[in-house]
Amino acid sequence: MAHIIVTGAAGFIGSHTVDRLLAAGHRVTGIDNFRTGRRANLAGALARPGFAFVEGDVTEAGVLHRVAGTGPTDAIIHLAALVSVQESMNHPGLNYSLNLHATHLAAEAARLHRVPRFVFASSAAIYGDTADLPIREAAEKKPISPYGAAKLASEALLLGHAAAYGFVVRCQRYFNVFGPRQDPASPYSGVISIFDRRYRAGQSVTIYGDGRQTRDFISVHDVARANVIAATQPGIASGAANICTGRATSLLDVVKVFAQHYPHVAAPAHAESRPGDILHSRGTPEAAAAALGFGAEVSVETGLGELIRGG
Ligand code: UD1
Repeated sequence: MAHIIVTGAAGFIGSHTVDRLLAAGHRVTGIDNFRTGRRANLAGALARPGFAFVEGDVTEAGVLHRVAGTGPTDAIIHLAALVSVQESMNHPGLNYSLNLHATHLAAEAARLHRVPRFVFASSAAIYGDTADLPIREAAEKKPISPYGAAKLASEALLLGHAAAYGFVVRCQRYFNVFGPRQDPASPYSGVISIFDRRYRAGQSVTIYGDGRQTRDFISVHDVARANVIAATQPGIASGAANICTGRATSLLDVVKVFAQHYPHVAAPAHAESRPGDILHSRGTPEAAAAALGFGAEVSVETGLGELIRGG
């Protein structure tokens, strides 16, 4: 049984990661300031004896330091972040505080308290808009948003710390994650969360463009499993890997699944493509398989079915 600190514990990916760690018998200390995370996401975890929760802001020096100082910690899973690419465009300074400075503070907590493992929520956004598909880890990194830039800078910071101070860092480059608890609040939220909310309300969805654009959609259950492996499996070395399925799914395919479940909802409307929208995104899953023994197991159809049934 390990003790793991999870920052952003009340968030979409954080809360699923916490649930999976607890189910595997680990002890978890979760940190969140509820900026975008929700207490309701932790309802299951808070009822379990292995879970402790600290309400705090990881951009404040001392919060993680204090938590890591309370006893031996086997891993930090750092998921707390400004999660919206669009918000990073509007507020780059806030983005660098949450998505880079907080990484530095978390890395320092790992160094000072000799935490042997560090798992970081990186993103496919570090690659930018590449036409060279599927995206390999060695591809050129050309972020096109403050969000992507901060994630890339955080990777460099962490891998430098890992090499200098002798702990293991795994940078998890998530592709398009979907599943229960994803927040559909903004027009820039993940498309599946937006579609789910609208179909539930009996409202038709809007497809930007012809719907033939594709993404590498990965279930949050697979992402949480990848985090648990990276944090707890023995014999893992530092590095970065795509956390993706390697499969392309079009928006038309996604809509088809929703339409089967909601036959009475009107057909989607089409609107102009979003400026800057990329047509296709897909990653190579081989590096995660080699480094972590991880492969996605939940198909988009299965994951969507679970989401739609209320999961
Ligand atoms: C991701 C980011 C987005 C950012 C973009 C930059 C997430 C959830 N989104 O977008 O903030 O600007 O990278 O490259 O991380 N769509 C619809 N109807 C909707 C909503 C979306 O058709 O109601 C379309 C989009 O135009 C896009 C596709 O669905 O073609 C997927 O959108 P989204 O879930 O935002 O993911 P990314 O495009 O990868």
